[in-house]
Amino acid sequence: MRFEQVDPDRLEKLIEINTLINSDYSDPRAVLQRIVESATDLTQGEASSLLLVNPETQKLYFEIALGDKGPQMQNFSLDMGEGIAGWVALHNRSLIVNDVKDDPRHRADIPQQIGFPTDRILAVPMRFNERCVGVIEIINKKNGREFTNDDLQWLEIFANQAALAIQHADNFKRAREQISVLQDQVQGERGYHTLIWASKAMEEQLGLVERIANTDSTVLILGESGVGKELIAEQIHLRSARNAKPFVRVNCAALPETLLESELFGHVKGAFTDAVSTRRGRFELADGGTIFLDEVGDLPLPLQAKMLRVIQERTFERLGSSDSITVDVRIVTATNKDIESLVEQGEFRSDLYYRLNVLPLRIPPLRQRPEDITELASFFLTRFSRETNKNIRGFTDEAVETLLSYSWPGNVRELENAIERAVVISRSDRIDANDLLLKMDDPVSPERYTGQPLKTSMNMFKAQFIRAALGRHGWSHTKTARELGVQRSYLSKLVKDLGIQKKGDSAE
Ligand SMILES: Nc1ncnc2c1ncn2[C@@H]1O[C@H](COP(=O)(O)OP(=O)(O)OP(=O)(O)O)[C@@H](O)[C@H]1O
Ligand SMILES: [Mg+2]
Repeated sequence: MRFEQVDPDRLEKLIEINTLINSDYSDPRAVLQRIVESATDLTQGEASSLLLVNPETQKLYFEIALGDKGPQMQNFSLDMGEGIAGWVALHNRSLIVNDVKDDPRHRADIPQQIGFPTDRILAVPMRFNERCVGVIEIINKKNGREFTNDDLQWLEIFANQAALAIQHADNFKRAREQISVLQDQVQGERGYHTLIWASKAMEEQLGLVERIANTDSTVLILGESGVGKELIAEQIHLRSARNAKPFVRVNCAALPETLLESELFGHVKGAFTDAVSTRRGRFELADGGTIFLDEVGDLPLPLQAKMLRVIQERTFERLGSSDSITVDVRIVTATNKDIESLVEQGEFRSDLYYRLNVLPLRIPPLRQRPEDITELASFFLTRFSRETNKNIRGFTDEAVETLLSYSWPGNVRELENAIERAVVISRSDRIDANDLLLKMDDPVSPERYTGQPLKTSMNMFKAQFIRAALGRHGWSHTKTARELGVQRSYLSKLVKDLGIQKKGDSAE
């Protein structure tokens, strides 16, 4: 291409895309989408797609498909050499096919699959270091015109930009993964978990954690089973000045009363039959650091009295001894029980409850923080694929849809198990909805909303109902509004107000 021929519009688009590639590594799909959109515009195509070669399976996947049937195409793959895109990938060469029906390389069933009559195709390889990493295809030139060599040369430039964008994003992702793997390992070796979150709700709770970390006040962490209470307790310790000292965990529900008492406060030789030697308790071990009393709602009543004294005076005696021991310990407690009703039933001392409840932290259930679902799912996917040496790239759109519409009664613990299971049984490079083995619950079942105000429940139902309808219509607001019998603008408002998100899109 000679310089004086350069079309200023095309040049401007190219510069714009170049800037984009160099500015945003974190969302490669958005960058690719922009590249394909611009390329389609500039070549006056009617539709287009971008396919990527998966190096392991040597198949081509539709990463971006523009046009009405785009969303349907994303689960469709081609072998190398199959169809026009496959030919381009295999031979690493561009093609202009101005009469598709007469071309033996064309697979007639593909336009049927996309439901898009294809007359002409312009297809170019995306090259990185001479290797073909994907293909961009433009389908049909507007007004029935033919694609030209000029179109092809421009598309090649765009395709190379796209290859570069992928490479950047890959490097970025790999670096970020390595960092999080290292963090995960370092934390793991120190006995701590890696905390993952993306939601506003968790952001708020962590803001509180940050503020209370450096006080010595007793904390009570509340929330359903599996929401991550223990991880929040760890964060309180890790973000405090005590973080170099021990974080000692005690599960108050795991031991019978006497053993628990000796576990907490220690015993002297001969204090009871099995007490063959003197032993220090967990409170002593935690001196200078933090003690985490998990399932504090299960603390037996006699120990509740002792605990009250420890909280007030930081003083206790080992079992069988009358010598008082004083420690410097931050007390963090947690329970998934409804502790107020335990107080009403007389199973939990009210004076202890008031002491614990000075700083309550309520961790919302997972179903109320959809942004965390996708973030956690990716985190567990990375962890388990590494552990099982499987190379799984992500989730299909249906799988993400399933993750988001499930109610997660077992919260993060259940999500973690579901992803582990899916990684084990998956035979593809993306987790599919079927791999998750989730029994989808009935969106209208009242049990799903138990324990929540009517308004919250109604909004949850609305969000789920609308998300499902949007899913059926490839996320088209116009079509969905028609089905639901509402104005498009009203639907858009609901989508915004209810925070309904497509796949892993973040709230911002
Ligand atoms: N935000 C998070 N990021 C990463 N992992 C999490 C997160 N929240 C929970 N998990 C994981 O989920 C599992 C359950 O978390 P945790 O043990 O803290 O729950 P819990 O609230 O204490 O539940 P229970 O009331 O049943 O004891 C753990 O394996 C934990 O690693
Ligand atoms: Mg727990």
